[in-house]
Amino acid sequence: MRIETRARVVVMVLAVLSVIAAPSRAANEAGVTYYKDVLPVIQDNCQSCHRPEGLNLGGVIAPMSFMSYEETRPWARAIARKVEAHEMPPWFASGPKGVFSNERGLTDAEIGTIVSWVDAGAPAGDKADAPSPRRFVEATSGGWSLGTPDFVFQLDEPYFIDDDVYDLNISFFKTLTEADLPDDVWVRGWELKTGADGVAHHMCAFVRPPKPDDKPIEEVAAEEGASGTGQLLTCIAEGAEAVMLPDGFGLRLEAGSTITYNMHYHKRPGPDTGVWTQPEIAFFVEERPVKYRVTNDSIGNTGFEIPPGHANYRVGMSRTLEQDTYVLTYWPHAHLRATASRYTAIYPDGREELLLDVPQYDQGWQETYKYTEPKLLPKGTRIDISFWYDNSPERAARYDFRSDESPGHGPRTDDEMSLGFIGYAVEIEAEESTTDQQN
Ligand code: HEC
Repeated sequence: MRIETRARVVVMVLAVLSVIAAPSRAANEAGVTYYKDVLPVIQDNCQSCHRPEGLNLGGVIAPMSFMSYEETRPWARAIARKVEAHEMPPWFASGPKGVFSNERGLTDAEIGTIVSWVDAGAPAGDKADAPSPRRFVEATSGGWSLGTPDFVFQLDEPYFIDDDVYDLNISFFKTLTEADLPDDVWVRGWELKTGADGVAHHMCAFVRPPKPDDKPIEEVAAEEGASGTGQLLTCIAEGAEAVMLPDGFGLRLEAGSTITYNMHYHKRPGPDTGVWTQPEIAFFVEERPVKYRVTNDSIGNTGFEIPPGHANYRVGMSRTLEQDTYVLTYWPHAHLRATASRYTAIYPDGREELLLDVPQYDQGWQETYKYTEPKLLPKGTRIDISFWYDNSPERAARYDFRSDESPGHGPRTDDEMSLGFIGYAVEIEAEESTTDQQN
């Protein structure tokens, strides 16, 4: 009896040893280890999101950290599955490739490295082989990912999201005072913080220059039926990041402007679930000469109705450019029924070019596509944008909406949208810059 038990223990020990030994043997054959081969790939492609203070994504951060071997090891199988399926790192545009600065993706060799590491039992290897840890600028900039900003405008009063709040879409306004911003400035970057981690589904910021004899901003917003007034600066949600413009490009921030903090809170209601929130927006001033004035705009269609049950309904919109235009960003925005989006340029000579193709639109990831080099579209170019929607009962069941209605443009998650946001710049006219200099 005793011998038997001992024998079993020995067998178990051997089994454990062989489990430990076998992978490391295989690993030694392939030579792939975490510290030497896998960590560099994870640093460059995953850690921006997979860390405790991952990308400022409006509270929707990656659910696990991959900063150390100990944190990564338990996820090895899931990691292999996700990278093989091209689901991580996330990227939704099938084309064009190589033109967007925030394009994410692994090479076949990198995927191969991860998969053979996992197949070999995900060995750690020698810590001495590790690259130096990736430094994130937030650590020294008060949590801002682009460095230390020149101005931070926080909503004046904190706001309490009540215990019983489940889904709340609300806009707050702040008009900049003399003390906030004494003079007009050019800014080259901006970044948002929701001030409500874990309960902010998304946040958008708009800025509206002062107008003489203005009505109260709340009234203006109500009349426009919009969540914010003026031009949209940016939104944060899963996938969206801070904005930094290329050299020579600037956005004019006027003294006395009003900032809209448009918040969408989403949480489990219940006793003691209420939280305080105080959103912020940070700006980075451009001191150097600005040649191109940046505008964020949308080419939208707000007059559509998607027929009940229709499984592949297209909504289109277009605009012809009145001057030479440098495009910086695209942000296709739609809701739960949207399945695809595409931007196309039709040049004055009739030639067509694909600007952005998102064949599998996922509203959970509100990605902004940023050009590495601003894209010149000459005067007379027409930009065509299409969204496709699936209002079928099958999709309705999966995404929890009603397919027996004809949704049109609206702000609720259950309404639809068809907005092709576009960030672009035009050259500041010669005469305008002369006037500036004379002032
Ligand atoms: C832009 C941010 C971002 C980047 C970059 C990113 N992830 Fe993720 N990842 C997420 C978010 C958010 C989730 C949770 C939501 C989801 O699963 O879609 C997630 C989920 C995961 C999961 C969990 C899936 C599951 O089974 O629950 C794995 C594994 C993963 N990521 C691996 C990776 C790897 C490996 C990389 C790099 C090669 C990477 N991710 C890069 C944001 C990111």
